[in-house]
Amino acid sequence: MNRKVTVIGSGNVGATAARGIAMKELADVVLLDILEGIPQGKGLDMLEANPVEGSDACVLGTNDYADTANSDIVVITAGLARKPGMSRDDLLLKNKNIIKDVTENVVKHSPNCILIPVTNPLDAMCQVVYRVSGFPRERVVGMAGILDSARMRAFIAMELGVSVENTHAFVLGGHGDTMVPLPRYSTVAGIPITELMDTATIEAVVKRTAGGGGEIVKLLGSGSAYYAPGSAVVEMVEAILKDKKKILPCATFLQGEYGIEGLFVGVPVKLGARGVEEIIQIELTADEQAALQKSADAVKELVDIIKV
Ligand code: APR
Repeated sequence: MNRKVTVIGSGNVGATAARGIAMKELADVVLLDILEGIPQGKGLDMLEANPVEGSDACVLGTNDYADTANSDIVVITAGLARKPGMSRDDLLLKNKNIIKDVTENVVKHSPNCILIPVTNPLDAMCQVVYRVSGFPRERVVGMAGILDSARMRAFIAMELGVSVENTHAFVLGGHGDTMVPLPRYSTVAGIPITELMDTATIEAVVKRTAGGGGEIVKLLGSGSAYYAPGSAVVEMVEAILKDKKKILPCATFLQGEYGIEGLFVGVPVKLGARGVEEIIQIELTADEQAALQKSADAVKELVDIIKV
């Protein structure tokens, strides 16, 4: 194939994303980890699934950044996963150092790629990737909003007993407890859920969405979610490689949009071949704007701690 996507980190999220990309035959995939054997083993296993899946995507597991050279997209999942009782923010400093090191290595070999950070705490890690890479903001786009929206979509569909397919949800803000699910922009077949559900049910859906990551962490007992995060990464990769210009909620570097300056925060963007091709600004009520600002403040606190 003539497109190449590297996934850094062959753990749960990285391997799930890599498999999705290979199964959809979106690109050749390189899976890199510091652990020896794991990326090679998982990569070979995925390659051996290809004949059954009908995919000719090449999958290579490696420990060597030279193999990642000239990637179109690099997805960064390297880091430590959240453990029960551990907040995303506890991971901050440890993951910062990992992400800095990874980004330096990645950009050396793929100076023109689009970077998709996934590692938590997401918005702060995006800032590390952005600063260390020196890339324009269009080419650093974090995965979080699609996942948060997917969770909300799943909960709305479950509540109403309808298909997830034309159930859409809108979640803004940082990927943390302060995220801002927006019910009036969340729809089923174009109908806002505020017309379909009572206030108490909507509040329950919003609360479950904001705590969605923690709910999985608690159930798993060890590690954090990876199927839905993996799927969200694949959607972003597909939108970019196919230049779909899809409007998706992603973490992007705001420079005054939504009244936020110099921070990665989740907002709707147009995702295409050039990465973030446009930041979509929608009207917010005073309450929604205040909630978004609070979420941005939470991101800023983390960014200030790691000084990026
Ligand atoms: N370079 C490359 N890989 C690394 C490095 C590094 N410097 N440091 C750690 N890794 C690898 C680990 O060896 C491990 O295989 O990153 C992988 C992380 O995998 P998991 O522990 O399974 O974590 P996962 O569930 O995939 O989550 C990864 O994504 O959603 C977020 O919160 C999650 O930040 C976490 C990240």
